[in-house]
Amino acid sequence: MSKDTFYITTPLYYVNASPHIGHAYTTLAADIVSRHKRAKGEKVFFQTGTDEHGSNIEKIALLNKVEPKQWADKVCYEFKKMWLDLNIMHDYFIRTTDANHEEQVRLIFEQLIKTGDIYLGIYEGLYCPMCENFYDESELTNGDCPVHKKQVENVKEESFFFKLSKYENRLIKHYENNPGFLSPKRRASEIVNFVKSGLKDISVSRTKVSWGIPVKSNPKHTIYVWFDALLNYITGAGYQVEKNDPEKLKKFESLWPADAHLVGKEIYRFHAIIWPAILMAMDIPLPKKIFAHGWWTVNGEKMSKSKGNFINPMDMADEYGLDSLRYFLFREVPFGQDGDFSFESFKQRYNADLANDLGNLFSRVINLSNKHLGKDMPEKPENSALFAKLSPNTAYIDEKINNLQFGDALNTIWEAVSLLNKEIDTQKPWQMAKTDLEKTKSFLKDTIWCLRLIAGWIYPFMPNTSAQMQMYLGIGNVKTDNSDNQKLPALFPRKK
Ligand code: ME8
Ligand code: MG
Repeated sequence: MSKDTFYITTPLYYVNASPHIGHAYTTLAADIVSRHKRAKGEKVFFQTGTDEHGSNIEKIALLNKVEPKQWADKVCYEFKKMWLDLNIMHDYFIRTTDANHEEQVRLIFEQLIKTGDIYLGIYEGLYCPMCENFYDESELTNGDCPVHKKQVENVKEESFFFKLSKYENRLIKHYENNPGFLSPKRRASEIVNFVKSGLKDISVSRTKVSWGIPVKSNPKHTIYVWFDALLNYITGAGYQVEKNDPEKLKKFESLWPADAHLVGKEIYRFHAIIWPAILMAMDIPLPKKIFAHGWWTVNGEKMSKSKGNFINPMDMADEYGLDSLRYFLFREVPFGQDGDFSFESFKQRYNADLANDLGNLFSRVINLSNKHLGKDMPEKPENSALFAKLSPNTAYIDEKINNLQFGDALNTIWEAVSLLNKEIDTQKPWQMAKTDLEKTKSFLKDTIWCLRLIAGWIYPFMPNTSAQMQMYLGIGNVKTDNSDNQKLPALFPRKK
């Protein structure tokens, strides 16, 4: 058995807050790649889940007068429900409170104590309880946490440390020898510079936090949430310290190394520095790619509890249709860059790109075809100049999706949509039919074949729309029944 499955992950989201559009974004991105690969017959394993330990969860549970696990169950359910509603096809949902995960984390921790990669010491440092992260003086913004802009605490405690410093050179070598590892490219230099400036060992246990996985050999310590959570990428894939379960062994061999970890830019260092170092310490090969995307703001502002400006993706999906949301997020902003969400730009794109461009094209072609070609969907015509022109895009779109350049793929698809609309405007098949019916038929057949291409191209982004189009385009042996007195429903009804 050897690796034969494309393995992609999202971060494990904290259960301290309900899912919002930012979480949806990363998960949708993983869904797009997964669907695209599956559609081509490739094996895929797509893992997402929830990060449930740590003081933040403990605090919010206390505030709500429930046990941390009860709180985690509630929010975890919200995430699962959201993925169902957003048509996410993940293969596995892992929770850091899963018994198997907890047990493997405990064993891995012990193993690294044995190899000397984890050792007991005293930690004194500046700690942001909201990040659950220690900061260097130099990393603070005006003396405050750079993320939350809140005061950091001076903390002194006995702690286990992970020997991150030991892996500095090996990390640099790995970055140099594997150019696709740190992605997108322009994010690499920040990581490389940070590692080159010198890595310190990091604290990986807490005595103050009880809601966590206890260290097996020293249970007054619980394992630091980040150390716990990062390990999900292997525990969910079947990794076991004692290789005694043959099913899991097989699973891990077929999945590892992971092909891509998708993360937001604020947690890139954890994934691009600490995670690979932990794997090096465990003697496990590194994932192929760590990809950091940008942040969505809302009307120019960061989403936050205090502003109460979280966008619930379901509000958009309910009003505009799920596929419109999936489209908007990946067309509006190149994946990797920051973007701003506004209802105005959403509506504008919806009306322009979906209602007008794609929706119109589809209804024009289907209505004209019903009139001039009858019910039966055509074989490819002799003269299919448009199809010949557009079909090479399939390879380009494939490459772009594989490289996580979703915006480029969508741009190319919408160029094709525009081109077809323009062709119809110039050819005027409704006039042509009066003088040259054969030419008209041939032209319409050509456009139908082009729409079949488009329906396939949009599938990973807009699975429902794709299926609806395919039905009317007679793909997959679906008999069309749209000729008689049925009115073709609009794919994207215009919004006022
Ligand atoms: O960091 N724009 O969990 P988290 C884009 N548990 N993406 C966003 C976003 C925004 N405004 N807000 C959130 C954690 N995200 C840890 C991860 S992994 C082993 C542990 C997405 O709930 C983005 O993927 O804070 C970001 O990295 C993630 O949600 C953070 O989720
Ligand atoms: Mg966060």
